[in-house]
Amino acid sequence: AYVVTENCIQCKYTDCVEVCPVDCFHEGPNFLVIDPDECIDCTLCVAECPAEAIFAEDDLPEDQRRFIQINAELAKLWPTIVEKKAALADADAWNGKPGKAAQLEK
Ligand code: SF4
Ligand code: F3S
Repeated sequence: AYVVTENCIQCKYTDCVEVCPVDCFHEGPNFLVIDPDECIDCTLCVAECPAEAIFAEDDLPEDQRRFIQINAELAKLWPTIVEKKAALADADAWNGKPGKAAQLEK
């Protein structure tokens, strides 16, 4: 499955959701996750993300591997999102900032 990683936090651009053929994105307050049981590995969402936050599970940077479990857990709790919406207000300022995992709201 594909995995949404740390740089989505506080950005949530949502371009990714429009291309997903199986509607497997789920939305929280300041982060999106992919349901690993639904993702068909089509790769389409990767190029859409302005924050370059989406990776194949096998290509995850070492320090992002914990997001495999975060995506799996939160996908069960959060509602599906299928249409693009406005990014979070300070998305461009947060894009690329280190240490955003501490900002994750559940
Ligand atoms: Fe959806 Fe394809 Fe991205 Fe998986 S890889 S989340 S199926 S767009
Ligand atoms: Fe997040 Fe990128 Fe989608 S910032 S909401 S994974 S377009």
